[in-house]
Amino acid sequence: MVILVTGGAGYIGSHTCLELLRAGHQVIVVDNLCNSSREAVNRVEKLAGKSIIFYQADVTDEAALAAIFAQHTNIDGIIHFAGLKAVGESVVKPQQYYYNNIVGTLVLSKMMAQFGIKNIVFSSSATVYGENEIPFVETMSLGVPTNPYGQTKLMSEQILKDMAVAHQEWSVVLLRYFNPVGAHESGQIGEAPQGIPNNLMPFISQVAAGRLEKLNIFGNDYPTPDGTCIRDYIHVCDLAEGHVRALEKLADKSGVHVYNLGTGQGTSVMQLLTAFERVNQLHVPYTIAPRRAGDIAAFYADASKAERELGWRAVRDIEAMCRDTWRWQTMNSHGYDQ
Ligand code: NAD
Ligand code: UFG
Repeated sequence: MVILVTGGAGYIGSHTCLELLRAGHQVIVVDNLCNSSREAVNRVEKLAGKSIIFYQADVTDEAALAAIFAQHTNIDGIIHFAGLKAVGESVVKPQQYYYNNIVGTLVLSKMMAQFGIKNIVFSSSATVYGENEIPFVETMSLGVPTNPYGQTKLMSEQILKDMAVAHQEWSVVLLRYFNPVGAHESGQIGEAPQGIPNNLMPFISQVAAGRLEKLNIFGNDYPTPDGTCIRDYIHVCDLAEGHVRALEKLADKSGVHVYNLGTGQGTSVMQLLTAFERVNQLHVPYTIAPRRAGDIAAFYADASKAERELGWRAVRDIEAMCRDTWRWQTMNSHGYDQ
């Protein structure tokens, strides 16, 4: 298939492009590089030994997108990763988040209708469940996201669901990711946050590298066995494989298809930190800090639907996630900007 990948230079997008190429698909990337580097795409091409057609363009720019779709009349499907994703920043810059994430989804929907593209896979998030019973199951009623970022995921899901009603031949796949971590085992591609990382794993790895002084653990008084929050960490390569599997199984199967992509296993902040130290044989200084606003004590996926229907499940464990994160960190101490 010929797949147009928005946000394909980003963290999850780059790993997915690699997996798509490996599976024999052709890849066209559209990315404005607002949170990524062209070098990620170069490295994917080298790893796969195949080339990618790359456009530096903004998915909210309708004219630019129309020109790309007019140029490539053989696109079979879209994977839509492009979006802003920092929860805290979205509270400070709601207009930017709503505009970027919602208009991007609207423009792509318009392009699909205009150019007769029937397949889209959308990067959603476990954040759409809000505070809910665990494990999170696809059939649950959705919650109320506590920040604009989460709202953009909920709204984009709704836009695509409504589009699928109006265009009954469309296949809309909503993939709800849990906590993606890790990097490709080659150490060539990985997560390259700009500035101080917001997320736990890149923060741990930058402390281990000596770029940050210590980890702040946001709260150890949650109702969990060790008092720290529990999440479902999933290796980014498993996640990437999940996208390819979803596309291959669901292309041209009309309707809306929703899947959790997680491992189904909960790991606490303290357990992840300890695993990282043990696997990589190093020490990561930490301190207990106050709770972070908006954090939920514990959530993890019921990942059985993806296994049952897609034949996909996450196979890489916490040790692999820690080892691969550290390999990427040590081989690329400043991300792609060496
Ligand atoms: P990322 O920032 O590394 O990748 C997003 C990519 O989209 C970047 O390359 C960025 O330059 C590009 N982009 C952003 N706005 C754009 C625009 N208007 N036009 C063109 N390109 C644009 O983030 P990621 O972690 O790879 O996340 C990918 C997707 O998965 C996002 O939609 C994110 O919300 C979603 N997601 C991520 C997580 C996570 O924890 N990483 C969890 C759940 C969902
Ligand atoms: N944490 C720390 N210290 C840090 C960073 C994080 O203790 O420096 C803790 C958090 O308090 C939380 C856990 O580590 O308990 C995980 O935090 P992350 O920021 O890595 O991930 P979140 O679960 O908060 O958020 C992730 C994605 C969001 C998504 C959300 C729900 O980053 O995009 O899951 O799906 F919205």
